[in-house]
Amino acid sequence: MLIYGKEVAATTLEKITSMTKDFEGKYKRKPTLAVIIVGDDPASQTYVRNKINGCKQVGFNSLSYEYPNGTAQDEIIQRIKSLADDDTVDGILVQLPLPKGYDEEKILANIPDSKDVDGFNASNIGYLCLGRPHTVSCTPLGVMHMLESTGVQLSGKNAVVLGRSNTVGKPMAMLLLNANCTVTVCHSKTQNLAEFTKKADILVVAIGRPKFVTADMVKDGAIVIDVGINRVDGKLCGDVDFDSVAPKTSYISPVPGGVGPMTISMLLYNTLMSAIARENER
Ligand code: GUN
Repeated sequence: MLIYGKEVAATTLEKITSMTKDFEGKYKRKPTLAVIIVGDDPASQTYVRNKINGCKQVGFNSLSYEYPNGTAQDEIIQRIKSLADDDTVDGILVQLPLPKGYDEEKILANIPDSKDVDGFNASNIGYLCLGRPHTVSCTPLGVMHMLESTGVQLSGKNAVVLGRSNTVGKPMAMLLLNANCTVTVCHSKTQNLAEFTKKADILVVAIGRPKFVTADMVKDGAIVIDVGINRVDGKLCGDVDFDSVAPKTSYISPVPGGVGPMTISMLLYNTLMSAIARENER
């Protein structure tokens, strides 16, 4: 069976839209997300456009700052600092990856915890590791919602995460661990990879390598979530060789239409939660 992120996201988006109306009625302002993009990577531009459109759809304000590659790092940091001080801004997002030469860590460190709607900063990752999540990275959080939408009990399952990025693999592993899965994280240096993936009841793949996971690497009846978005000959495909793998699985997410739409709805959710928390702290 297919897990369409778009369908799972639709329920969340409806809830966010209705809660946003309540928020506006109560606080006489709209939740506001500020998005910063540096350079002209076409994939990043598409993601940012989708995020801005998502804001419109649920009734948020959005602010968009586009900088050409080569803009001084300090100028970007100054922008973040001024957004951090701006009381009308609830979330600040810097689209990643930044072009070569920028110090991602140094730039992101200027986003205050209360506005870190990507959940990328050290304190939000730390709380997640402690099992007391505050703001959780959007893509892994979206994957959890997709897994929960199957109704399959996660507790006690063998979960294998393929990929160890700070943005997806690591927080994904923590979320699955917090859900009482037995979690294995595999990566580019893992030896005999298929031996691990074949044991996975739940396999989450986020490595950015087109159609890397093939049928021989997957257990019969597994749930497979494909986080990859790759472009091959102008066509989008995931990290999983969908056609060969799908018949072996109980549930699988397609690309496109799988994880992508979930990421945006979780970002909007995080932004609304940040707006509510900030109002409650006034
Ligand atoms: N690039 C790819 N995914 C993401 C994400 O979730 N947030 C940001 N800021 N950049 C990304």
